[in-house]
Amino acid sequence: QGKSPFTLVIFGGSGDLSKRKLIPSLYNLYSLKRLHEGFNVISYGMPGMSTEEYREVVRSSIDTYYKRVERGDLEEFTGRFHYISGEFHEESRYREILDLHRDLSKEDVQLVYYLAIPPVFAETVIKNLGQDFLRESGYPRKVVMEKPFGVDRESAGRLNEVVLKVFREEEIYRIDHYLGKETVQNILFFRFGNSIFEPLWNRNFIDHVQITAAESIGIEHRGKFYEGAGVVRDIVQNHVMQLLALVAMEPPADFHADMIRDEKLKIFKSIRSMNEKDLGENLVKGQYGEGDEILAYREERDVEEDSNTPTFMAGKFFVDNWRWAGVPFYIRAGKRLREKVTEIYIQFKQPPLKLFGDECNEIVPNGLLISIQPEERISFRLNSKYPGSENYPHPVEMEFNYKQLGTYDNLDAYERLILDCLRGDLTLFARQDGIEAMWEVADPINRYFEKVDTTSLPNYESGSWGPEEAQDLLFRDGRCWRISDNCIDMEEV
Ligand code: BG6
Repeated sequence: QGKSPFTLVIFGGSGDLSKRKLIPSLYNLYSLKRLHEGFNVISYGMPGMSTEEYREVVRSSIDTYYKRVERGDLEEFTGRFHYISGEFHEESRYREILDLHRDLSKEDVQLVYYLAIPPVFAETVIKNLGQDFLRESGYPRKVVMEKPFGVDRESAGRLNEVVLKVFREEEIYRIDHYLGKETVQNILFFRFGNSIFEPLWNRNFIDHVQITAAESIGIEHRGKFYEGAGVVRDIVQNHVMQLLALVAMEPPADFHADMIRDEKLKIFKSIRSMNEKDLGENLVKGQYGEGDEILAYREERDVEEDSNTPTFMAGKFFVDNWRWAGVPFYIRAGKRLREKVTEIYIQFKQPPLKLFGDECNEIVPNGLLISIQPEERISFRLNSKYPGSENYPHPVEMEFNYKQLGTYDNLDAYERLILDCLRGDLTLFARQDGIEAMWEVADPINRYFEKVDTTSLPNYESGSWGPEEAQDLLFRDGRCWRISDNCIDMEEV
């Protein structure tokens, strides 16, 4: 439970993120009695409307997006929401926010500013939050910032300078909602809470690692945002890089926010940078074309007819450190792929001697699957003897599924992160140096993708597994994606 009362100020309170994620998450936390009783929400947004009208928005967001069973008193909940409309640069509005906060809460209640706004407004809002009367008001405060943090290394650095002029590092909560997912957090528990994996977790035993973040949805109604972002800024620079770091990092000396973030940073910095030739050989850019009754990316609203924006990428990366030297990390991410699947697959090396099997009944490599969504499971593939008089090997699976744990503290990623922020726990939030290091990986990819000839796009059909070249990336190395059209047998893991 959040220990102290708070006022949450949501910038962009009537926007998409608020309606889809923040309001439903707050409602679930409220229904589960995980929020302190003394809480209020002030929403600040551009559309002109009254508080009463805004409360209607809150109700309809819950009607549409709230899928949980717990249902606290909805009227009491919506009654805690207040609305102020204005442009983000209007200084006087920030005084209104403070006055309203004072009216609503008597004590030294913490002010949590949540920036649920497009990145172009972030600087303006932060600068305004630095106005003297706000700083001097004496309320404890925090700021929650949504990704993307800037659009490249340089802008992220600039934004950081602005934020650090107004807030201290420990007051800044940079959200990457993947870090709030149970199965993502479980990666560290699994690796460092067991002694049997760590001795094998290195170049001597691991053949390669695959990370897939596939979505079946398209860009929905976010054409404007996506045109400027593309898959690298939207998913790879943040979510995928975080997954990679959790798989590759060294054990921290303590389960403490900064120690974990220090270890992740070392991984981002160890990712081998690519020269022009490597970029060409190791990266695949994709953009979806039409599918079965599905529009091509270029036909979506707010998207240019000859857009060069990538909706898919695959790449081969190396982490140049002692543990991982020479082990390829293959990653792929994209929209409008066959299924929604986020997973990490670790393939181990084959035994040194081939004692069992023949051409038709081969020993399969051991594989560890960490499935993040939609299924939340970890499964390990081993070889066993197929019953009978012949010596045939047969792959079998050892599996742990989250469902087995029954009722666990069922918070989704946003709920968990909001609660952590209220409690002041930064462990699952990104730190600025990590963000900048992730941009250092992403920037050359974006620059390379910008140069790819637009006539080569679209290059994959909606509902497929992406461009052929993404399959070739692994075939060339004698490997293949755990899930793809060409490697059906691997799907059994
Ligand atoms: C968001 C991206 O960060 O993550 C979206 O902006 C994407 O484009 C979403 O759809 C995926 O999140 P999840 O939790 O559904 O995998």
